[in-house]
Amino acid sequence: MDAIDAIQRRTSVRRYRSEPVPRETIERLLDCAVRAPNHKLTEPWRFAVLTGEAKATLGEIRARHRLQRYDEPASDEARAGMAKARRETLETPAVLVIMSRVHPDEVVREEDYASVMMATANIMTAAQSLGLGTYLKTGGVMGDRALGELVGLPEGYRIVGLLSLGYPAESESPRRRRPAGDVTQWLG
Ligand SMILES: Cc1cc2nc3c(=O)[nH]c(=O)nc-3n(C[C@H](O)[C@H](O)[C@H](O)COP(=O)(O)O)c2cc1C
Repeated sequence: MDAIDAIQRRTSVRRYRSEPVPRETIERLLDCAVRAPNHKLTEPWRFAVLTGEAKATLGEIRARHRLQRYDEPASDEARAGMAKARRETLETPAVLVIMSRVHPDEVVREEDYASVMMATANIMTAAQSLGLGTYLKTGGVMGDRALGELVGLPEGYRIVGLLSLGYPAESESPRRRRPAGDVTQWLG
């Protein structure tokens, strides 16, 4: 699949088949990630690939984090929320934890973050071209100390996304967008 088809067909994938994604495939995706433009070649990204036990630990961290949403932690609703977070994580073949350098200068920090998200988009497009699905998530769990410890978050970096990766369980149609023509001016 060429890059344009991959971009046009990509959509966030919620359910995956159980088969693992080969390590060499994930390595190819990460090689695409680090091709992203980055101002002054800061290479501001770091990645952690979670499978197996590490992914199970992430499931527990997400479940514990989700508990904070509920007034009654012992309620059925809270238990169901925790179980869902655990199940979703276990049923995702791999999770890539995306980290970005946090520079003291705001402009550099913003440029670094932009590069890291471009790297993430490269992974998503490349994954699509190989028949894989992805789903980028953010949220408060990114600041969870246990997650930082799990991935050995380096000093001066923060987690900016959790990217699910696997073979899609079903084919989904891309979600709606406003046509580009509606949000573009041509000046000349
Ligand atoms: C920076 C960023 C953060 C996101 N965070 C979340 C998230 O926390 N939870 C979630 O369900 N989706 C998250 N998404 C996915 C978007 O909701 C999704 O891309 C959007 O609904 C459009 O759907 P599509 O990707 O299928 O086109 C995030 C996407 C981006 C780019």
